Amino acid sequence: MSNYSIALVPGDGIGPEVISLAVDVLDAVGDRYGHIFNYVELIAGGKAIDAAGEPLPAETLEAAKQCDAVLLGAVGGPQWDTLPGHLRPERALLGLRSGLGVYANLRPAALLPQLRAACPLKDEVLIAGNSAGKPEFDLLIVRELTGGLYFGERGRSADGNSAFDTETYSRAEIDRVLRVGYSAAKLRRKKLCVVDKANVLESSRLWREVSKEIAQEYPDIETSYLYVDNCAMQLIRAPGQFDVIVTSNLFGDILSDEASVLTGSIGMLASASLAGSGGAATAQGATAPVMGIYEPIHGSAPDIAGKDIANPLAAILSAAMLLRYSFGLEKEAAAVDAAVNAALDSGLRTGDIAGRSGAGNTEKIVGTMEMGKAVLKALEVI
Ligand code: IPM
Ligand code: MG
Repeated sequence: MSNYSIALVPGDGIGPEVISLAVDVLDAVGDRYGHIFNYVELIAGGKAIDAAGEPLPAETLEAAKQCDAVLLGAVGGPQWDTLPGHLRPERALLGLRSGLGVYANLRPAALLPQLRAACPLKDEVLIAGNSAGKPEFDLLIVRELTGGLYFGERGRSADGNSAFDTETYSRAEIDRVLRVGYSAAKLRRKKLCVVDKANVLESSRLWREVSKEIAQEYPDIETSYLYVDNCAMQLIRAPGQFDVIVTSNLFGDILSDEASVLTGSIGMLASASLAGSGGAATAQGATAPVMGIYEPIHGSAPDIAGKDIANPLAAILSAAMLLRYSFGLEKEAAAVDAAVNAALDSGLRTGDIAGRSGAGNTEKIVGTMEMGKAVLKALEVI
């Protein structure tokens, strides 16, 4: 019997409703495989602004540090949009990321066959880059998460008429996130693409320099390079060409939203932010939990909060990533992934992933709760 502590930060908007289902799934996994998950519920984001006057109270960060991993819903909402930058709910995310040192953000984006109808790309586009000649893609964006423009020096001129943000990267920061990318690529299709803007930016030239050195250490991985504008285009031209993409904080933010739409819905995408290689290392025998923040990438969606229509699958898949990367519980994580697949196989869809064509449609539109229950039920028989 193993014991793990998980900090829960349900947050704002649809965060609490999707996280509560992810917790049900974790508990079911715990019962089934003999693990005890202890939860510590913490406030951050808009909730914390209302309750404590700041987006990330020191107690929240301290308590999160004491846990083995963090499961986060989403933060933000229109009622906090007019606050000054340093008091906005999003600051909580940045503070948690840097405070917990989770520098590598893994954002997988794969087109599940069940969701083909929800993907906006034509078959020929999907087939274009796919070595198996199938209308599929399965890529992983590894986004640097605690450096770059998000954390660089910023400010305004005295008269307020000009403003600046700075992109700074050190060799060490580039090196460590690339290594997480290589660890992941080793367990996947052994291709890694470094995305930068080295034709213009000095910081990108350093990325390229460092990555050319590190690539030598991974001769079994095919390393390639793309400028970010070209990458944005290639993602919608032939997404099947990509396996692992490693890139800076800002570029990864933008490219991961783009990739998410190709999977059918941003409501499907989970993410892991790690202070190390996580599952890649655990799969190779490491056992200590690796600190990570796990969150759906969809945001708080305040317009649909509390209406039982949000897609809980990204949160549930984030819980699967938590099991896999922080705790090294591969079998358990795979069971959750399979249960999500089974729920989709049975034709259930939340509105965001419903197919776009009517003909021969056997899909049934369900709400948040019903989708979550279907995953729990599927888990019982896996
Ligand atoms: C994300 C989000 C955040 C980011 C925002 C909410 C600060 O867009 O996780 O991708 O830009 O990192
Ligand atoms: Mg984003």
